[in-house]
Amino acid sequence: MPDPLAQRSIALGVTGSIACYKAVDLASKLTQAGALVDVIMTREACQFLTPLTFRSITHRPVVTDVFDPQSELSIDHVAIAERADALIVAPATAHTIAKLALGLADDALTTTALATQAPLIIAPAMDAHMFDNAATQQNASTLKSRGCVIAGPAEGRLASGLVGKGRLLEVPQLLGCLRQTLGRGGDLAGRKVVVSAGGTQEPIDPVRVIANHSSGKMGFAIAEAARDRGADVTLVTAPTALDSPFGVNVVKIATALEMRSALQNKCAHADALIMAAAVADWRPAAAADQKVKKGSSDTWDIELVKNPDIVAGISTECLIKVGFAAESEDLLANAQSKLLSKGLHLIAANDITAEHSGFGADTNKVILLDREGGEESLPLMSKYDVGHAILDRVAGYLS
Ligand code: PMT
Repeated sequence: MPDPLAQRSIALGVTGSIACYKAVDLASKLTQAGALVDVIMTREACQFLTPLTFRSITHRPVVTDVFDPQSELSIDHVAIAERADALIVAPATAHTIAKLALGLADDALTTTALATQAPLIIAPAMDAHMFDNAATQQNASTLKSRGCVIAGPAEGRLASGLVGKGRLLEVPQLLGCLRQTLGRGGDLAGRKVVVSAGGTQEPIDPVRVIANHSSGKMGFAIAEAARDRGADVTLVTAPTALDSPFGVNVVKIATALEMRSALQNKCAHADALIMAAAVADWRPAAAADQKVKKGSSDTWDIELVKNPDIVAGISTECLIKVGFAAESEDLLANAQSKLLSKGLHLIAANDITAEHSGFGADTNKVILLDREGGEESLPLMSKYDVGHAILDRVAGYLS
């Protein structure tokens, strides 16, 4: 499955905020993803950066003025508006948000926003008090009520020195927002997909846990792929170092029992559950209340009890269930047996000894086994693409 941004025409509006340095990286990542990027800068944005900065990255003309005889817009003032698959304004200042809410068209960016029928994403960046101001809040709600996506802002330290809400979202979040917006109406639109990720942590005492090597990358990638096909996605995740994906409902848990209760709750009205999490099969029978001291003994016996099999225990009517089998030997036989014993529709047999596969890698190589007896060996691919291959099957079951 190609990146949803590949070959898409993305108009990137850049306004006069210091956060426009992030727009340079956004333009670069969009171009790397294969998008055709038309940058439109306001006069104020040109105080912070030059058009040449964006032109060097996108290899395309940058528009700053509708009346510039060199600009395509001086011949056809709605050219970018018509070819855009999405218009994202990042960063969007309070001033530009106000102009967009009023429907003004006094520069190339607002003219394009008014003329386009493509989805409009606004990523605010400003001082916290400007964002909190009733005027800005009302302008943002007006735009939202017209179908615009208001992406952010995030909380944190602002250029003024204030700490509050007003930071432009980070580039991966903005890319996620674009991919989700372009994927509306995909083959999972209207479907609820629940994904589990990461390795559960079973406490031994307040400082020690039984854990495993799962980074969460596989589950997060599936969640993003489902989001990009229009699904309403919930990601139940054990502790990871990964940032929450844009547009995905994230539920953070730590232990297998917490994961079970979150999944039971979220699967009640879901269409599909994809279990990429590495769930601990065992947990300490009782976690100590205080840190266990080294003492004089050279050994420490910890009694373990079995955790419930989460995916086997969830059987809501019509729920499509997909599991993974992380194996270091007898890959197919073990995966086949888990497919049956856990009542799954599909299982991804994952040889964790293979190179660039399994725990922590950005890529994975799996064999899909289905309950109809089918077997499909996929090549080494990104975890995002493995997610799409699994979701192709899920979409097939759901249709
Ligand atoms: O997170 P990454 O670093 O990206 O690594 C990805 C991965 C290797 C963790 C992933 O691709 C993977 O293989 N996940 C499943 C790991 C696992 O626990 O496999 P298993 O064979 O022990 O379990 C089989 C299935 O039953 C899994 O879907 C598992 O989520 C589920 N299970 C397991 C135990 C349990 N008590 N309840 C469960 O539901």
